Amino acid sequence: MSSSSANQQWGGRFAEGPSAIMAAINASIGFDRKMWRQDIQGSLAHAAMLKHVGIISAEDEAAIRAGLGKIAARIEAGDFPFDDALEDIHMNIEARLTETIGEAGKRLHTGRSRNDQVALDVRLWVRDAIDGLSGQITDVMRALVARAEEHAGSVMPGFTHLQPAQPVTFGHHMLAYVEMLSRDLSRLADCRARLNESPLGAAALAGTGFAIDRHMTAKALGFDRPMRNSLDAVASRDFAAEFLFCCAMCSVHLSRLAEEIVIWTNPYFGFVKLSDAFTTGSSIMPQKRNPDAAELVRGKTGRVIGALMGLMTVMKGLALTYFKDMQEDKEGIFDAAETLTLTLAATAGMVRDMKPQTERLAAAAGAGFSTATDLADWLVRSLKMPFRDAHHVTGTLVAKAEARGVDLSGLTLAEMQALEPRITQGVFDVLTVEASVRSRISYGGTAPANVAAMAAEWKAKLA
Ligand code: ARG
Repeated sequence: MSSSSANQQWGGRFAEGPSAIMAAINASIGFDRKMWRQDIQGSLAHAAMLKHVGIISAEDEAAIRAGLGKIAARIEAGDFPFDDALEDIHMNIEARLTETIGEAGKRLHTGRSRNDQVALDVRLWVRDAIDGLSGQITDVMRALVARAEEHAGSVMPGFTHLQPAQPVTFGHHMLAYVEMLSRDLSRLADCRARLNESPLGAAALAGTGFAIDRHMTAKALGFDRPMRNSLDAVASRDFAAEFLFCCAMCSVHLSRLAEEIVIWTNPYFGFVKLSDAFTTGSSIMPQKRNPDAAELVRGKTGRVIGALMGLMTVMKGLALTYFKDMQEDKEGIFDAAETLTLTLAATAGMVRDMKPQTERLAAAAGAGFSTATDLADWLVRSLKMPFRDAHHVTGTLVAKAEARGVDLSGLTLAEMQALEPRITQGVFDVLTVEASVRSRISYGGTAPANVAAMAAEWKAKLA
């Protein structure tokens, strides 16, 4: 079974190599190669520091730098011989470095362990991912704000329980998602600020006897400071879990918008149309136009939430400090970030592509007795009726209108007065959808003037 020779990086005390199954379960190079840039970035900073404090010579550091540069170029060019037997990205790069530059390569790992190295690489990778995703979230926000500006006054039904509730404007609806995404952005920024400490130099778990300068490497790598406790530095992945929560929450927001797009594009609603760019046809039903992109934005949310659950579950039973279990953090992190990258791009595309059907939206906005609250409010304002009584009178009028098959403005004044003699002609002014949304001027309300002002505010903020 175990016939290959002992591992050249840690195999000193091993007579034989691992069994094939051991190698298979152990190897992470198949996925952690994604962190090659971060690994090289960390090694460059580490080598520069080793030189600075006199642990390695200037010549060795120069050789390491040149060697890592060559390796980076090879990986970039797709001609780096990744080797499963070398387990992971850290050992693949280090082994090739030694192969390329000789002795000096073997000095790179002084005062460092794979435990702080991997903690560093994952942090750097997540930090880069946060920066990329934040830019993309901002792009989706800009797309939503542009639609909000355009449709600040386009009325549509607002829903609770997916039942027509009160008229709102399409722009207001778009801006609701802008608010949600802005919190996703700020959550990612918090996560970034908290994770921005360097684990490098914690070594295996206890720190090192070499006179390394952790402040120097922290600074070189753009961290605010080195982590204060070496055990914590190699044992903790809460930064990754927090990142995954941020991704999951953002995915949930995109998923809700996607769900709305699915509903809105259904011909029974007909609220928005998506072009061929974001829909597909059916292989059997020629009339179909399926909102697959929206469905997949919604569907892919499952795997992002899954990545969060996966990592929390991996970590929950681990004593301090490092265990190989933690190697399982990476695929979930990569997949969640890459999935969100894709779903954000698809969402930005759909938001820009969708054509709100304003006439249909306006007709729907008036249906379902959506101005009933306005009628009740009128009774309160004009007749000083207590709201509970006004609610009851309005309910009775709704029933009457429903029985006659008209909406509230289709009732005659006489019909209304039969129930409440003090009602005047003025009531009809509040029964239109336009009057209803125009009246919602409370801060954060859907009045078109509010929406236009808020859209302008966001536009300036995001410029
Ligand atoms: N591939 C490992 C990981 O992803 C690197 C750290 C290995 N450390 C160790 N002591 N075996 O976690």
